[in-house]
Amino acid sequence: MDIAKISTQLEHTGYIVLAKPLVDKLLGELFTRCHDDDPTRFHAAQVGRGAAKQQIGSIRGDVINWLDAGNSTDQAYLAWMEELRLGLNAALYLGLFDYESHYAIYDKGNGYAKHSDVLQGKKNRILTTVLYLNEDWQASNGGELLIFEPTGNTVIATVNPTFGTMIIFLSEFFPHEVLVSHSTRRSIAGWFRVSAS
Ligand code: OGA
Ligand code: MN
Repeated sequence: MDIAKISTQLEHTGYIVLAKPLVDKLLGELFTRCHDDDPTRFHAAQVGRGAAKQQIGSIRGDVINWLDAGNSTDQAYLAWMEELRLGLNAALYLGLFDYESHYAIYDKGNGYAKHSDVLQGKKNRILTTVLYLNEDWQASNGGELLIFEPTGNTVIATVNPTFGTMIIFLSEFFPHEVLVSHSTRRSIAGWFRVSAS
């Protein structure tokens, strides 16, 4: 992984889109893991936190499964992220403390309304990562990620969720939205955090 390139662009622009940072073998294994054929693994994603947590399909229509360090495929992805965490801490002194991530599946007809990944009163998410796992994705499938500039008025980047693409951005500064997908859309969303205390 090219830590110098990633850290330089995060410092200057606040986000970076990487065409295919992971090897095909791992991407294939992650794709296999990102299926909800086992009904005990995935559940409807919720919005808000604590007592205010609720499932509102009109805001967010994905089902999610948190990565499991006991699974070898998940562990390989987490190990790559750990290398990134250490590299970014060394380059940018971000003090990133840990990383949490989940598989996400948006069925046809679902998206995620414009939002910030930093929850009110809980500012410990520093960097967001999203890895896309959709082979042969067509523009007509929709499901683009829109990144807005910090005021939320203007779109500054549109990312197609094509196989192997990864975006990394500063969680606090970029409101973003997942447009309605017209086909099943698979990804892994994750957050590097600083210690809450
Ligand atoms: C999220 C999110 C973006 C995407 O899960 O918080 O914004 O492109 N995901 O899947
Ligand atoms: Mn988000």
